[in-house]
Amino acid sequence: MSNHNEDHEKYEKLAEVMQAHKEQKGALMPVLQEAQGIFGCVPMDVQKIIAEGMGVTLSEVYGVATFYSQFSLEPKGEFVCGVCMGTACYVKGAQKVLDKLCEELTINVGQTTEDRRFTIQGTRCLGACGLAPVMMINDDVYGRLTPDEIPTIIAKYKVS
Ligand code: FES
Repeated sequence: MSNHNEDHEKYEKLAEVMQAHKEQKGALMPVLQEAQGIFGCVPMDVQKIIAEGMGVTLSEVYGVATFYSQFSLEPKGEFVCGVCMGTACYVKGAQKVLDKLCEELTINVGQTTEDRRFTIQGTRCLGACGLAPVMMINDDVYGRLTPDEIPTIIAKYKVS
């Protein structure tokens, strides 16, 4: 649960992070990473604070935040789904699995469903290549997937 005090603490933490990286070249990336760790995402208001704090333009911050798929610009859904796009999974048909997942949730990679239940996130090798293609939903791992298994898997989370 977030309340004002907690938010205040988060912003203070962000100020500390920026202070620590201030003189460093190429600091935007680590600052954004830490900001995402603190807030769970890097929405516009956080990007504005970073721009001011680091003495760069908002479009510079926005450029970095949108270029790398690891950053999410809005709060994530309750269930974060990632289909591995590493080589082993890719050659075993991960793209088709991902397409099916997008179709099932009617969102694209990097988006969150309107009810804030599901987010699809770009994912690199999960270290379970033997199970390729692999999908994770929060901490649950699904391996050797075929696209037609997706609706059943998603249905489990819809009811929970
Ligand atoms: S490439 Fe997908 S788990 Fe390694």
